[in-house]
Amino acid sequence: MSTTQYWVPPGVIDLGLGHPSLSLLPQPLLAQAARHRFAQDDRDALQYGPEQGGPGMRAALAAFLSAQYAAPAAAPVQGDGLMLTNGISQALDMICTVFTRPGDVVIVEEPTYFLALRIFADHGLRVISAPMDNDGLIPEALAALLVAHHPRLLYTIPTHQNPSGVTLSAQRRAQVLELCRAHDVLLVADEVYHLLTYTGSPPPPFALWADDPTVIALGSFSKILAPGMRLGWLQAPPARLAALAAWGVTASGGGMSPFTASVVQSLLELDLLGDHVAFLRRTYRARRDALVAALHTHLGDRLRFAVPTGGYFIWATSRTPLDGERLATAAAAAQVDFRAGPRFSSRGGLRDNLRLCFAYYAEADLEEGVRRLARALQS
Ligand SMILES: Cc1ncc(COP(=O)(O)O)c(C=O)c1O
Repeated sequence: MSTTQYWVPPGVIDLGLGHPSLSLLPQPLLAQAARHRFAQDDRDALQYGPEQGGPGMRAALAAFLSAQYAAPAAAPVQGDGLMLTNGISQALDMICTVFTRPGDVVIVEEPTYFLALRIFADHGLRVISAPMDNDGLIPEALAALLVAHHPRLLYTIPTHQNPSGVTLSAQRRAQVLELCRAHDVLLVADEVYHLLTYTGSPPPPFALWADDPTVIALGSFSKILAPGMRLGWLQAPPARLAALAAWGVTASGGGMSPFTASVVQSLLELDLLGDHVAFLRRTYRARRDALVAALHTHLGDRLRFAVPTGGYFIWATSRTPLDGERLATAAAAAQVDFRAGPRFSSRGGLRDNLRLCFAYYAEADLEEGVRRLARALQS
């Protein structure tokens, strides 16, 4: 088996893998939800579905998101403003199909989620990267890029970013939105990690601004339930949703995955997802702390990093220049792996960075992985 997303040679600890552990995928909860769904004499979910997704699922999801996003009581998330997707990857592809043309410019963060770069490349988009600091995108730098490149899209991962772990501050969210409005740029917010916060609480998601014509907010069940569900959602104002619903694929095939969505609808109606997300937060917080402790113990003199307040990743910077090829060879010999910084750069930079994930392995393996990484870095 070999896909970009998944293959670890036996015996190797791959600290780069950005997946949930198999043991954390809630098979019993999904079995319970599926039994609930099949007990109903309702075949709608087996038919072609409405373009935005079934109204029952959208209502259940809207209620869940209103609670999880702490939406103001006067402005809850509305089912009408939601569209189901096959996950953020498919949503990005659909957005590119409907709202861009080859040659258009997309601005991304440096660093950014490397597989989004693949999707933008599939659509012939020109990628320009915008710098970040510890508070996320830097508005002044972004403003200059908007003037220079007239982009069609801004792609941002505002909360617990992949790979940097950085969260865009509340003040900057407002500034970034204002800039996108002023320059007529579509702000695509990938909020895949927003609900996985372990310390404090993040600023409100762009999803709560999704009635603004400038914003499309993306969410996913991949990291809060199971990637194999291939289910996510998109929030946008009515005109954008109408354009997406008129997409050829939806026009022909109807809304995305009505059957899978109906099982998740039962999960939501049985009120099982909130507790599961709380369990994931506790589990990942402990794993993050274990990875942080191991890095301080074994690699404190070699790497520096900020402790992320949520998400999946620690983004480490080597204190001395790295030779990527030599390190890869040494890591293979030590049976450990990581994701090298340049993958997350749209311009071949970030050579001294490593992305390490604390979601996939339990504490003992994280510690052993760091020991091996220390051996590789020392050799
Ligand atoms: C930032 C980001 N966006 C999107 C995805 C993929 O999301 P989905 O499984 O919903 O397609 C990932 C998965 O690692 C991610 O880290």
